[in-house]
Amino acid sequence: MAERSVTRVLHSQITSDGAGVTLRRSIGTQMLSELDPFLLLDNFGTDNPDDYIAGFPDHPHRGFETVTYMIKGLMRHRDNTGAEGLLRPGGVQWMTAGRGIIHSEMPEQTEGEMSGFQLWVNLPASRKMCDPRYQDIDPENVPVVRLDNSTEIRVIAGSVDGIEGPINGIDIEPLYLDISLAAGGKYQHSIPTGHTAFIYVFDGSIEIDGKSIDSDSLAVLGDGDEVSMQSAKGGRLILVAGRPFGEPIARYGPFVMNTQDEIRQAIEDFRSGKF
Ligand code: FE2
Repeated sequence: MAERSVTRVLHSQITSDGAGVTLRRSIGTQMLSELDPFLLLDNFGTDNPDDYIAGFPDHPHRGFETVTYMIKGLMRHRDNTGAEGLLRPGGVQWMTAGRGIIHSEMPEQTEGEMSGFQLWVNLPASRKMCDPRYQDIDPENVPVVRLDNSTEIRVIAGSVDGIEGPINGIDIEPLYLDISLAAGGKYQHSIPTGHTAFIYVFDGSIEIDGKSIDSDSLAVLGDGDEVSMQSAKGGRLILVAGRPFGEPIARYGPFVMNTQDEIRQAIEDFRSGKF
């Protein structure tokens, strides 16, 4: 097996998006504009309602997928096709925006903690204008694998010991695991050679390749076919991987296409009500 090293560690940047939601961004910044096929990674996590109450009112997306994984709290989404759903702790929504969707993502709580992730995943050029699709997964349908007393894994996409995550039919052939390691815990997972992979630590700290990655940090993994991690003091992270496209990226806010002409078209289509 070829072990994946850590090629880069980035501390997330505190920023604000939507109508004024405070969050930590680690992909989609000046430091790391994208990590093909991943376009953005936000970690929201706060117990101060002022940081989340404004939510994300109606906004469009075209040309990629948004993946929302809730850890704590409740978020309701509604869109212009009439679809609606409530994201609960441990639940995930994998939305393929395709040619266009307008939706809102609003907290369904006025107090208490809200935390989770939003990841943007690119679509290949041939599928950017596909029909929108949702995979709304209730927490009960996200398998939890306990390997020993020290390792617990929620399988969102990909598989662990033959236990398959619920997300299917996605172009990048994703791996998305939420891994909790107790103090002294270890874990190894295979990742296909050539696939882009990263971890984001959101509690405690994790060691990979002799490097310690602390909370609120992203570690980009080098190529190889396996990653090995351990935690001396305990930690929790997401491990995400997928097939890169190697295609040109043109992005403007919530539109991610291949050319500037396609971006202009997206803006025009949105303004003229074609979403
Ligand atoms: Fe959105």
